[in-house]
Amino acid sequence: MNLFILTGAGVSAESGLGVFRGPGAALWKRYNPIRLATPEAFAHDPALVHDFYNTRRRNLIAASPNAAHVALARLEAELARRGGAFTLVTQNIDDLHERAGSKNVIHMHGELLKARCASCGAVRDCRDDLSVDSRCGCGGALRPHVVWFGETPLDTDEIYEALAAAEIFVAIGTSGAVYPAAGFVRAARARGRRCCELNLEPSGNAEEFDDRRYGAASEIVPSWVEEILAR
Ligand code: APR
Repeated sequence: MNLFILTGAGVSAESGLGVFRGPGAALWKRYNPIRLATPEAFAHDPALVHDFYNTRRRNLIAASPNAAHVALARLEAELARRGGAFTLVTQNIDDLHERAGSKNVIHMHGELLKARCASCGAVRDCRDDLSVDSRCGCGGALRPHVVWFGETPLDTDEIYEALAAAEIFVAIGTSGAVYPAAGFVRAARARGRRCCELNLEPSGNAEEFDDRRYGAASEIVPSWVEEILAR
């Protein structure tokens, strides 16, 4: 079996990390993404942007993986043991998949526990607050190593290669609102692959999926993993 799994903010919601869209206190309802998550915003008011990501970084460090993260790590290990293939691509900038034991995670939107030099591009680990005084050895300003709106996602060649090879495409905890990730299901369908959606509610492109399961990730992902491993 060759599985391609895409995760979004919904998989980390029950770990206390906010989602961006949807009901309740979604991040982009409380904050303006144009003023916080664009290169222009960083150029205009880096202190405001640092403040936003510093708060999210502290919340992340205090958070823990949930049963959905743990189930996906188990699926990866079990499929490897059986000679199968497994690719986990996440839109999330948290490290909860890795903390749950996942090995091969592609962070297409970057990682909050890393910082990048805005001048030379050097990337380093970052668990502390960043500020306008945070500098790289080259003298460049440090910014969160995240992909902002208007920027190109990371590792897209590797992602499309894995997507092309996969037999089953699965989207977990994502609203299907942001491209290119929202277009993966169409690419998989175009190759006649089976597509499965696991989410709290139907996503924006729910009709593209053959198999749809709705509920909290910490409940529906472990039971789905049980089923897959029982096959
Ligand atoms: N279990 C399962 N799904 C959930 C849960 C839960 N406990 N809570 C919320 N969801 C679902 C919501 O129904 C919604 O469809 O998770 C989805 C989260 O959608 P978004 O908040 O839009 O997050 P995501 O799809 O990951 O956003 C994509 O947008 O803002 C940018 O770069 C950011 O990576 C992000 C991208």
